Amino acid sequence: MTQPDDNHEQIAEWNGALGQRWATGQRQIDGIVQPFGEAALAAARARPGERVLDVGCGCGDTAIALARAVGAGGAVLGLDVSQPMLQVARERAAHEALPQLRFEEADASAAALPADVDLLFSRFGVMFFAQPQPAFAHLRRSLRQGGRCVFVCWRAPRDNAWAMAPLVAARRALGIVDPPPADPLAPGPFAFADGDRVRAILADAGFEGIELQRVDRPVHLGESARAAAVNALRVGPASRLLREVGEDQQPRLAAAIEAALAPHAAADGAVALNGSAWLVTAVAA
Ligand SMILES: C[S@@+](CC[C@H](N)C(=O)[O-])C[C@H]1O[C@@H](n2cnc3c(N)ncnc32)[C@H](O)[C@@H]1O
Repeated sequence: MTQPDDNHEQIAEWNGALGQRWATGQRQIDGIVQPFGEAALAAARARPGERVLDVGCGCGDTAIALARAVGAGGAVLGLDVSQPMLQVARERAAHEALPQLRFEEADASAAALPADVDLLFSRFGVMFFAQPQPAFAHLRRSLRQGGRCVFVCWRAPRDNAWAMAPLVAARRALGIVDPPPADPLAPGPFAFADGDRVRAILADAGFEGIELQRVDRPVHLGESARAAAVNALRVGPASRLLREVGEDQQPRLAAAIEAALAPHAAADGAVALNGSAWLVTAVAA
């Protein structure tokens, strides 16, 4: 299947309904991805005085955490293409005195980047490049020799019940019985599911010591099956399907997803399903 040459489709998506949904649902979405971000932040071990790039920083959660870790003597640059998400990030950062933190609207695969960076970090923000190898080669050039690259990316859909259970229910509600196979290499949340592909992209881009560690965590979709259904239509492949079929289908899909998730509710009503990611670490050669 053909791949796009540049990132304009993704940039349009993250400035359209998708980015708006992340911006308005920031609190709930952070709750969903935080356990994986915590694993990545722990592996990154950002230290006082370090210079950090947060690639695809979105609404700023990890950039703010990194800015606290590097302190006033360090510098964190959050890069993202999404205006609505960057607006949320800037508003959140404004509540804290973090002069070391800056956000920039830029395509990380092509933007002019600072030099001598110590840490390239991302929580689920590096799977959207049309051409990942040149994008990582570009990012690699901003790192000092020995600088670290640490990110999390989703493993295969079949290991991510939090994403697939709502999608299957939504498809069923729409009468989609035989969906066309997705292109596993297309830019999107699962583009880095193949660990060998990730290793090859990083090695070709000038990284060494590349390690992938499987991280499985319960993904807390919501405090009730209803809330979980609403969140599943904000983030993940069911939300993509909703964008494709039109917002007027939201109530119908939410009802179908709620019914499918209800059997998974714990005694307090909350719904959590498995999430599975790669924690990727590498060093600039
Ligand atoms: C799944 S979201 C993750 C956001 C954030 N890191 C988080 O964990 O909440 C992916 C992010 O990557 C950003 N993104 C996609 N393509 C990008 C590019 N070429 N350059 C910079 N950011 C990009 C999107 O705008 C979006 O904010």
